[in-house]
Amino acid sequence: MRRKLVVGNWKMHGSLAQNKTLLTDCITKLAPLNNADYAVCVPFPYLQQAQSLLQNTNIAWGAQNIGKFATGAYTGEVSVGMLKDFDCQYTIIGHSERNTAYCESDENIAAKFMMAKNASITPILCVGETLIEREAGVMYHVVAKQIDTIIALHGATVFANAVISYEPIWAIGTGLAANPEQAQTMHEFIRNKISALDFAAANGLKILYGGSLNPQNALQLLVMPDIDGGLIGRCSLNANDFEGICSVAQSI
Ligand code: 13P
Repeated sequence: MRRKLVVGNWKMHGSLAQNKTLLTDCITKLAPLNNADYAVCVPFPYLQQAQSLLQNTNIAWGAQNIGKFATGAYTGEVSVGMLKDFDCQYTIIGHSERNTAYCESDENIAAKFMMAKNASITPILCVGETLIEREAGVMYHVVAKQIDTIIALHGATVFANAVISYEPIWAIGTGLAANPEQAQTMHEFIRNKISALDFAAANGLKILYGGSLNPQNALQLLVMPDIDGGLIGRCSLNANDFEGICSVAQSI
């Protein structure tokens, strides 16, 4: 069985003072949990704070995006090498909130995914459909297309030791999580798609679920065979809620 992974996505929240309280509480609460992996993806300015508080704990840290180039005249961008300076283990790639607000193309996302992989930072690739797409029944097509660009450019093997997070856009921040069957069916679809090209890569790939995951619905979702953990927005900003989800992952 794949080891569960729970990752907090803080989005654009926090301050030095708030983060210190939140991280200190999370360190204490998660310290006894050793049966799953845990991480937080923080805003860039707080990477150093995350590094200094979280090193030598069981909580890893990472970023929420990277630039698609290694270095150069790209005002406002942050390179993967800069993340390495702060010992990041993860970076989120292609979150729908970025794709919508900053018009990220599948090609850009593929370039960022490879940047992270080549620097040995685990990319957490976000995929998912809108409500209109689900209601039209085209969600598998939409999610397949988001993955296909990477496969077409770089092959399926690049998903070995990577993370995909299925985040239906209609479930993000709405309080309306996908039900376990909806999520499991999509996760299975994603794994089968990659498995058809590279069985070993698909078998090791962690597929997280994201979208209104909370301590109450975590068990029914995380117990599903192809749901390997969660990417948590709102509930990662509260140490009790985050611990609640992490404890569920620990118990499975
Ligand atoms: P919520 O948990 O707040 O719905 O956010 C999910 C998400 O976007 C994780 O990346």
